[in-house]
Amino acid sequence: MTDRYAVIGNPIAHSKSPQIHTLFARQTGQDIRYEAILAPLDGFAATVERLRNEDYKGCNVTVPFKFEAYQLATQLSERAQAAQAVNTLKFDGDTLLGDNTDGAGLVRDIEHNHHFSLRNCRVLLIGAGGAAYGAVLPLLTAGANITVANRTHSKALQLCQTFAGYGNIVAATYEELNLGIQQFDVVINATSSGLGDDDKPPLPENILAANGLAYEMVYSRDTQFKKFANRYHMKFADGLGMLVEQAAEAFFIWRGVRPDTAPVIAALREPK
Ligand code: ATR
Repeated sequence: MTDRYAVIGNPIAHSKSPQIHTLFARQTGQDIRYEAILAPLDGFAATVERLRNEDYKGCNVTVPFKFEAYQLATQLSERAQAAQAVNTLKFDGDTLLGDNTDGAGLVRDIEHNHHFSLRNCRVLLIGAGGAAYGAVLPLLTAGANITVANRTHSKALQLCQTFAGYGNIVAATYEELNLGIQQFDVVINATSSGLGDDDKPPLPENILAANGLAYEMVYSRDTQFKKFANRYHMKFADGLGMLVEQAAEAFFIWRGVRPDTAPVIAALREPK
């Protein structure tokens, strides 16, 4: 019997997850089928219920349902609790196991694919929304020292308070960063729409230390952060590797097998 999985979102047509998991399955010889499911905005729980009744084994969850999935899960991993969001559900009898593999995917991409060790690394995390919350615990666990900056500074402070017990994490204002005194080894853009509405990002051009990495979580378009990184010739990474790595982590949770991500990342980068 082929085991079935899906990704649930709204919108969902653009999702690369079916392609990624199909490539993983082929590579590892796992007999699974994986599809994209569009759930109505008020129909996430009902969609999960249907999948469970139809004997699916689990699903991924994307925008805008990650918080609902977190509430729906009957058991949560530590990283899902910390993120207050679930992107991976495993159906196990009556148990609905909720996990969050986004941050682990980010860490794995930075360390394994881009060869940056995060231990004692100075990380500037820009943003204090859902994407940032998902990233913090895995970054701290990897040994990073995090500074958080956000348009709404109070949210950066709130985020720091939430994670204060897990490692070194402080907030900085853009004014402080623009003094040009602090430098970072990795700058991660975790905002949903770039760095600001005007053309000039609110960061000084020397924000990144020599040989540092500018990391954009978005992979599908040229963001203002990418333009900023390019303008100052920074080493740049987009979020495609993170996307594939978070999928690999979900695949491991479901199947107990870790796929090789490199050929899958390469396949996704190939021009169509
Ligand atoms: P996500 O789940 O993608 O993180 P979110 O929870 O809505 O989405 O969070 C969006 C993040 O992007 C927030 O940090 C937000 O800043 P605010 O807290 O000040 O709202 C940031 N963001 C969104 N649009 C932005 C913009 N135009 N300029 C700067 N930051 C922006």
